[in-house]
Amino acid sequence: MLALDLLRPPVRRVKTWVRRHNGGLAADLERRYNLNQLQRFEAVLNRHGRSFQTSSALCEFGCGEGRLTQYLFELSPLASIFGCDVRREAVEVCRRKVPQGRFTVNHATPPMDVEDAAFDLLYSYSVFTHLSESNHKAWLGELARTLKPGGLMLHTVHSYEYLRRTARFSPESLLKYQLKEPVEAFIRAGRDYLYVVDDPATPEYGSTVIRKEYILEVWPRESGLELVEYVEGAIEAYPEGCQDLVVLRKRP
Ligand SMILES: C[S@@+](CC[C@H](N)C(=O)[O-])C[C@H]1O[C@@H](n2cnc3c(N)ncnc32)[C@H](O)[C@@H]1O
Repeated sequence: MLALDLLRPPVRRVKTWVRRHNGGLAADLERRYNLNQLQRFEAVLNRHGRSFQTSSALCEFGCGEGRLTQYLFELSPLASIFGCDVRREAVEVCRRKVPQGRFTVNHATPPMDVEDAAFDLLYSYSVFTHLSESNHKAWLGELARTLKPGGLMLHTVHSYEYLRRTARFSPESLLKYQLKEPVEAFIRAGRDYLYVVDDPATPEYGSTVIRKEYILEVWPRESGLELVEYVEGAIEAYPEGCQDLVVLRKRP
């Protein structure tokens, strides 16, 4: 307890203590949650003989405010780190939070302001969970362009596994999809691509669920890459169930 706290009335003293310690706990939990998600990426990378540490040019597509990007220098101190997002304010936050990185703003549709074959590892977390079908195809090709030969790209998606888990653990999160039938009936119908615009002002940013079999067939074609692994439920997500992870490789 700080000396200054002793001068406060007892109730305020307790409130100050709770705020300070809960704030610390929240920050600690947030860090653990974020690092746990990166560990899931790392575990999959390791299966392909790769890691954050051995990657020299890393890119996070749709980095937001650097929730994950901020740890990349801890994991890979010598790498060059690049991040991009459509939201200018988020990119500004990244620039402040991660001064060693390079961050740019891109439009909702390609291209990205990056030279060919720039990265050996590119990943996104919860970006393909928000793109329309035509836009997600366009980005697959564009992102593949920025990979070096032999480079890997990993993207999370919401799939039927996400629908199943979320229906059990956070059913209110599914309301935005306006499903006309129960989740299992929707899954049996086998629709490939579900895209719901959340806000008409941003038609290129909605909520997306993609069928695994569609990804296995369409993503290699659209990206020109090999799909080397599809991990169902790879990454636990709060408050919703999980995100799957798709791993693609550019042929050497
Ligand atoms: C759910 S947030 C995830 C942010 C970050 N990846 C994280 O895990 O904290 C989705 C992010 O994707 C970004 N985004 C959406 N469409 C994009 C696009 N076409 N290009 C780049 N970023 C995009 C959004 O602005 C938002 O920051």
